[in-house]
Amino acid sequence: MIRLRRTILFIFGTRPEAIKLAALIRYLGRFPDRYRVKVCVTAQHRAMLDQVLSAFGLTPEYDLDLMTPGQTLFESTSRIIAGLERVFDDSKPDLAIVQGDTTTTFCGALAAFYARVPVAHVEAGLRTGDLAQPFPEEANRALASRIAALHFAPTATAAANLAREGITSGVHVTGNTGIDAVLYIRDCLDRGELSSTEWPCDGKKLILVTAHRRESFGEGFDRICQALSQIADRKDVRVVYPIHPNPNVRGAADRWLRAHPNITLIEPLDYVRFVDLMRRAYLILTDSGGVQEEGPSLGKPILVLREKTERPEAVEAGTVKLVGTNVSKIVSETTRLLEDRCEFERMSRLHNPYGDGRASEYIERILHENGAG
Ligand code: UD1
Ligand code: UDP
Repeated sequence: MIRLRRTILFIFGTRPEAIKLAALIRYLGRFPDRYRVKVCVTAQHRAMLDQVLSAFGLTPEYDLDLMTPGQTLFESTSRIIAGLERVFDDSKPDLAIVQGDTTTTFCGALAAFYARVPVAHVEAGLRTGDLAQPFPEEANRALASRIAALHFAPTATAAANLAREGITSGVHVTGNTGIDAVLYIRDCLDRGELSSTEWPCDGKKLILVTAHRRESFGEGFDRICQALSQIADRKDVRVVYPIHPNPNVRGAADRWLRAHPNITLIEPLDYVRFVDLMRRAYLILTDSGGVQEEGPSLGKPILVLREKTERPEAVEAGTVKLVGTNVSKIVSETTRLLEDRCEFERMSRLHNPYGDGRASEYIERILHENGAG
């Protein structure tokens, strides 16, 4: 049988999608006889996306460049759908690949459906079961699942979520490609192949913070900031917070935290520096999906600033805890980790519930077996 080289169109737009697809794109690049890889970025994010493209040496064939400051969901959704029509016309892919649960993910899947191109969804099957949390990601990923032909579920739990929705065909448990990326960078840092940077902490414990969820905008963010301010009043900690550029996030951080002498607000870090900082942190407070996955692989305790998570595996293993946006809960759980050595050690266990670092390899094999390359 003569196998034709297949054209695969990757569509992504934000920082986490780029980090999690970079490893797969590079891996498929090892098989030029099987795949003609084309990359389309919507640039739903601009600066944070460019940081990842340059870190992984990726040059997109198509760049829709459509981020605008303070964009609404209506604006980004309509611009992405309109922009992708030309990309499908021009690239004529045999398969489109999308990742995760952003507006670009959903629009990429929908555009492929309109172009009658099959879709593979990387990081399929994550669910909280509540369309309002996280918003709008829970809907985005469920809608992408309805359209996709191949579903790369990171864990057995994610595959079971798909089965509950009647999606059983084309489902493969592969681990999360984000773990490929974080373990690769960690190993390069450990071996000294990437340079590591000291953070001026004066011997204090470094608490790393990230937050950006839409459902927390307003009062939720105000409460998170109040809690951070109380935590930073302690003399034995230093809070470092790379602020997401969304104006709703930046405004609250500026109002509540900028003046605190024990809080360092910084711009988003490039991926290597962020992984380096995670390694140096004593504990991490976050509402990020990706950071919840990376923390256990680096042996860092994670307190999640959300009421619900679609990543229950590390919560069940006891290395991640949900603290929501309640001020006293955030402060008391942080204090516990700072003062109770046993609790800290229990939550610092190194484990990889979200993958073994070879997800890209497993995905390639499945693509090949399914005739996509
Ligand atoms: C988006 C995703 C969210 C993901 C997050 C990762 C949706 C609906 N949300 O949220 O699932 O967890 O990305 O970070 O898809 N901005 C910049 N520069 C950048 C990036 C963003 O200035 O490089 C600012 C802009 O003002 C932009 C705003 O942030 O309008 C919001 O960006 P958007 O992609 O709409 O939403 P996020 O909150 O980043
Ligand atoms: N990250 C980064 N620089 C930062 C903060 C986070 O490179 O300053 C990385 C982090 O390691 C993870 C990803 O960005 O891989 C998570 O992105 P984000 O929290 O924006 O989105 P989510 O995962 O919640 O969708």
